[in-house]
Order: sequence, then structure tokens, then C-alpha cells
Amino acid sequence: TVVDGVRVFSLEAQEGTSEIVPGVSTPTWGFNGDVLGPTLRATRGERVAVEVTNSIDEPTTVHWHGMHLPPDMDGGPHQMVEPGDTWRPTWQIDQPAATLWYHPHPHGRTEEHVYRGLAGMFLLDDDRASGLPDDYGVDDVPVIVQDKRLDDDGRLVLDSDGNEVGLLGSTIVTNGVAGAVHEVTTELVRLRLLNGSTARVYDFAFEDDRPFTHVGTDGGLLPTPYETDHVRLSPGERAEIVVSLAPGSETMLVSRAPDLGGVVAPFAVGANDEFPVLRLSAAPELAAAAPVPVAFEPLADDTVDADDAAVTRRFAIQDRSINGRTMDMDRIDETVRVGDTEIWEVTNLDLFPHNWHVHDVQFQVLDVEGDPPGPELGGRKDTVYLEPRRTYRLAMRFEDFADPDTPYMAHCHLLLHEDQGLMAQFVVT
Ligand code: C2O
Ligand code: CU
Repeated sequence: TVVDGVRVFSLEAQEGTSEIVPGVSTPTWGFNGDVLGPTLRATRGERVAVEVTNSIDEPTTVHWHGMHLPPDMDGGPHQMVEPGDTWRPTWQIDQPAATLWYHPHPHGRTEEHVYRGLAGMFLLDDDRASGLPDDYGVDDVPVIVQDKRLDDDGRLVLDSDGNEVGLLGSTIVTNGVAGAVHEVTTELVRLRLLNGSTARVYDFAFEDDRPFTHVGTDGGLLPTPYETDHVRLSPGERAEIVVSLAPGSETMLVSRAPDLGGVVAPFAVGANDEFPVLRLSAAPELAAAAPVPVAFEPLADDTVDADDAAVTRRFAIQDRSINGRTMDMDRIDETVRVGDTEIWEVTNLDLFPHNWHVHDVQFQVLDVEGDPPGPELGGRKDTVYLEPRRTYRLAMRFEDFADPDTPYMAHCHLLLHEDQGLMAQFVVT
């Protein structure tokens, strides 16, 4: 609803019961329902206001992952909402069209809150005509992919069994249900893929290896879409893809064994795992679609000029630490000057997976261990997988929202790692 020109949403975190496996009743948490949450949607330039009510019986928060906004509206661990309370953030949408998402961020408890089902998509639009399929739920489809483990009574088990990366479940749940199907009615379908898992890395493809067009990354459309047959996403990352189906045909979106890049004990961290994700089943007659655009009108925000960088910072990740330190809610790790472009050099010193997420900004991946990134890392990103023993150079600009008192977070989005302290706080002043 729009009240006095402000788009107003309400989200209530609540406990419920859902059939994530059909026929089995599982206690889950959701926003405004039993599991996951509604898709929120707003347009560049609009002001939004959200009423976030906590009806579960422990403190939580809601963080707007990928959103450019003031730090006190960010929903990180400093904006806790106590049980029974309502938090009312408001901000103006000031970034290109993109597939963002929202999820809890209570320090030390994020993995469990997301795993129980608290997550949803937050789609942004702008006034650029993309030419992409855009009929929500018909040919423009959110695909939230998570993995779960259920015990014999159908209860969610959150036990990582000492696994270095956290829990890897063997039940794949797409948009809150195992065995998900989408009925296709148009020649082209746009899938907005979100890795909403706490630890698992997916390599999305189709069972018949059909090619598709990768059109968007975390923070918006790729300036130049490209054709591929797979895309790897680590927890928190998104990809928008467009795939075509013949009338009356079927295919399956799957996850193939992901190349995790030189990890030790790859079997233990999911490098061999393959899953069906979403069955696509096409009607006997399909509505015609316009061809996928070969380029999108570039926006000023699409790239960050690394030549403008005033500061280079290094983040060396090892075990649960960044530069030898673990998260301290009372310590500011980095102070950034408002208006500056910076280069962040992030290295995974371990032989197991990590990734890296920065709040407030979208960054550009300049290079990976000195080499130009692949096309899947082009465009605006807020989360990037860190292959072992490699350095990722990221360029980002901290345009506004100076606030010396309220930090933003930067962390590994393998949520067990984040909970165990692989997180840093930075302020923009
Ligand atoms: Cu999606 Cu700091 O998180
Ligand atoms: Cu990590």
C-alpha cells in the first residue's frame, strides 16, 4: 500500500507449521505466514517504510541484503527487535533494478533464523525498459533455493556435525517446498535465482544442459548478457537467467557438483552433491516472447571507476577471523570516508570455502588473483565466493549516509562462519 507517497510494507516474523516436504508437517518460521516471506517490490526513487514485528519468542532483526540505505535502517545486529516489538525503518530506493532479499541478522543466531525459514525477496525496479519477461509469477519467477535436514518426525535439524562450512542438508527446498514445479506458459522464462542456503554452494544448470542467458547478478542487470549452461552461486548470491522452452516440453533446473576451487576434502563440503531444484513444465501452446536483449542501456551506477580509489584495504580471512580478529560488537574495524571509492582486497587463506558480503554497497570485481573475473562476476555484486588461497580485488564507492555511530557489516555469508565471528564492522564518516 502507498500512504502519503510512501510505500508501506509490514512483515511479522512468526512461528508456524508447513509442509516443506509434501505430506510431512514441519515446524518452521516465516514472515506473515508459515515459511519464507512475501516478495516486496519497490521502484527507484520511491520511499519505503516497513513495519517489522517480532512475534517469535527471541530477539531477531531483518536485514535488507543488497540495499543501499542508511546504517540505522540496515537491520544488522545493532537493530535488534525484541519479542513483541515493532521496528519501523524507512529509506528511499536509490539504486538500479535488482533482485535483493531480506533475512534476519541477530549476531550469533543468523544461521538458525534463516534456516528455520525467515527469508524473502525484495525486488527493485527502475524506469529503464529492460525488455525482459516481467510478468511476476508467470514468466518472471523467484526461485529461492535452500537445503534442509529433517528428522524422522519431520522436524528441522540444525546440526552441522562438525562440518567446517556448516549444515549441508540433503532435502532441497525451492520457494519453501521440496519437488517444486513451475508451469510455463510463455516461450521465455526469467528465473531470479537466490541461494538462500546457510552453507551450500550450488552450480545451477538444466538437466539436459540446454544453454540459457545470464542477464543479471546480485545488484542488477549485466551490461552485456551472455549465454552459458551453468552458474555457480554461493550463499546470499543471486543470478537472473532467461531460458526458453518448446511447447509441451519439460526440463529440470538442477544443481550440479559445484567446482569449489581447490578445497581440501571437497566431498565433505558439498562439492559432489547434485540435486533437482525446479521442474519446468511447458503448456502445449506458449505465448510468444520478445528475444532476450543483447545489451542493456548502461547506467552510471553500473561500474565503479577504480582509478578514483583513495584507499586500499586488506581483509585476510582465516578460520573465523578477519586480519586475525573475530567480530566484536563494540569495536569498529574500519572507518571509511563518505564519498570515497575504495579497493578491498579479500583473501581466503583457508583450504575450505568462504564468501564475502559487504552491506550498503554493490562492488565491482576487478580481478581474481590478478586475472580478470569471468562474465558471471561482471556487473554489480554484493556477495562473492572466495576460492581457497585467492585474492579478490573489489572496487566500491561509499556515496552517502555518513554516520560515525552506527556500523555496517562485512562478513562471510556462510552463516555458521558469520555467527562464529567472521564479520567486521565499518562506519562511513
Ligand atoms: Cu545477507 Cu550481512 O547479510
Ligand atoms: Cu566463511
